Amino acid sequence: MHGADDMHGANEGGGVHAAPNTLEPYWMPFTWNRRFKQAPKLVAGADGMHYRTPEGGAVLDSMAGLWCVNAGHNRERITTAIQQAAAEMDYAASFQYSHPAAFQLANQLTAMAPHGAFDHAFFTNSGSESVDSALKIALAYHRANGEPQRRRLIGRERGYHGVNFGGISVGGIVNNRRTFTQLPDVDHLPHTHDLEHQAFSRGQPEWGAHLADDLERLCALHGPETIAAVIVEPVAGSTGVLVPPKGYLQRLREICDKHGILLIFDEVITGFGRLGSSFAAEHFGVTPDLITLAKGISNAAVPMGAVLCRQGIYDALMADAERQGGTIEFFHGYTFGGHPLACAAALATLEVYKEEDLFARAAAMAPVLEELVHAFDDHPRVSDVRNLGMMAAIDLKPWPGRPGELGYELFARCFDKGVLVRLAGDTIELSPPLIAERHHLETITATIRETLDEIA
Ligand SMILES: Cc1ncc(COP(=O)(O)O)c(C=O)c1O
Repeated sequence: MHGADDMHGANEGGGVHAAPNTLEPYWMPFTWNRRFKQAPKLVAGADGMHYRTPEGGAVLDSMAGLWCVNAGHNRERITTAIQQAAAEMDYAASFQYSHPAAFQLANQLTAMAPHGAFDHAFFTNSGSESVDSALKIALAYHRANGEPQRRRLIGRERGYHGVNFGGISVGGIVNNRRTFTQLPDVDHLPHTHDLEHQAFSRGQPEWGAHLADDLERLCALHGPETIAAVIVEPVAGSTGVLVPPKGYLQRLREICDKHGILLIFDEVITGFGRLGSSFAAEHFGVTPDLITLAKGISNAAVPMGAVLCRQGIYDALMADAERQGGTIEFFHGYTFGGHPLACAAALATLEVYKEEDLFARAAAMAPVLEELVHAFDDHPRVSDVRNLGMMAAIDLKPWPGRPGELGYELFARCFDKGVLVRLAGDTIELSPPLIAERHHLETITATIRETLDEIA
């Protein structure tokens, strides 16, 4: 283990100024900083299913980095594409001028989007930006359609939609709601997770479709004509892989249609093969109006995100600007949206997904993951296990009065044994790269079991 003044490898070669390397100045995001800095966990290289520590040890990645390295690490085709793009053109904006790769990528994404229903892509640099962009598109769409009073946004308890103000407002994470301010005109559906009816579900729970009917209650409360959009993760990822009950998403779609409300699927995690299909929308057979993407879009090799828009949305904004005599139809965008390196990475990533048929591979491997995680069903330290596609969660019974500490201890010990496991509080979340073999999944679950038995 390294102390703060002894961080091998991270500054080798002198760096920019060859300053002594300490851990303190970096304020790490979503991290128990005080604990990390006593016993840092560092990686310095990666390949396929593994990271490499600065000392050269292998760490098996059960999390695809952070739900994002779907094709496995350091894929040569993607790396080469990025290198070539960087050598050709460092940067081009997309404000009033642009570059060919951005159009090529938009073409490909809309072509692969579910049910042939999406005809435009808007580029961002992260999931959080995709979410805030989608919310803005929804508001702008209704205004363009002559319904400017539709300004209310509906999210869901236990939803995670990134960290920007739009995303935390529609999200349902209590720490965000406690710490930061929120947008007005937001309300929330109840989450769909109920242990009394769904404990240890394999795949979609049978119980809970009726929870979508709460949207009717919100319509009755606020007036449906004031609601712009409903945003949900088809499978809530960050709050512990909450799989939608059978029929739930279909019901949400029906109620949105009835009241002219746009339905947004936040597919930042579920996009690009996680459920064994291109998008969760395809897996569930439900077509939303907007889809937010990021993470796996570029195999995480360069930050990128996108919003896919259903036919008619872009056209409504164009028609309105035409009527009003405006120039810029949508007053929104990011300096780095559609960055040439990100587009190169994404185009190469889509080729890898296709050539290796990785989404079908995920579908084929999903039953193996299911079998291995549900072997924890009768573990005395486990209160629930859930899974769908190549995502799964195992809830641990927390140490009394110390929420999250058992989870951190498990993460730390597994890392030292060479397995990266993600813990959200006391919930183990598994989301391996889609190239995972059975033996990788067996090593991951065996290491978790051994470690849990040591500490719990
Ligand atoms: C569903 C969902 N939306 C949005 C985000 C935010 O993405 P980012 O961290 O790239 O801003 C995440 C991140 O995990 C996510 O899972």
